[in-house]
Amino acid sequence: MKQIVLIGFMGAGKSSVGQKLAEKLDIPLYDTDQLIEKEKGMSIPEIFEVHGEDYFRKEEVAMLEKMKQVSGVISTGGGIVSTEKAQKALAAFPHVVFLNVAIEDLVERIKKDKENVRPLFLNNSLEAFQEIYFKRLPLYQRAGKIIVENQNKGIDEIAHEIILKVGG
Ligand code: S3P
Repeated sequence: MKQIVLIGFMGAGKSSVGQKLAEKLDIPLYDTDQLIEKEKGMSIPEIFEVHGEDYFRKEEVAMLEKMKQVSGVISTGGGIVSTEKAQKALAAFPHVVFLNVAIEDLVERIKKDKENVRPLFLNNSLEAFQEIYFKRLPLYQRAGKIIVENQNKGIDEIAHEIILKVGG
């Protein structure tokens, strides 16, 4: 069974790299955010608004637990490292890849991305948003057994680098 879990902050490229990686390895792509949206019949911003962030975090870890049964690339939401339960669940996967991008670039990417509405970006000042990044950084570094810098690189190059680091 081949499982590669992608973690990283909002805007780090988990979805696009995940897609390329799945294509190259010829395995399916699972996106925990999309699966939660489908299961709940609500968008992420709606879930945050109606049920709150804590509820979303519980659903997120439950979805991650379900992913233990699948074979494929698993792209996660940026906050997957924020609860102890999710950290434990992540530790059970053989290949967890942290896609790292500098916060300044992440902010620029998020601003440009009109398709994905991120409640944590909308509802926080830039300073508070940056604080979330710095608080999470050591958590990503600890959970990501493989760290890949996604700075000034093409998606194809990153996918290739991940395959090499994961070991084929
Ligand atoms: C979140 C990241 C989002 C989504 C939700 C919360 C976070 O996913 O799960 O808005 O807490 O960082 P992306 O990382 O795909 O934007």
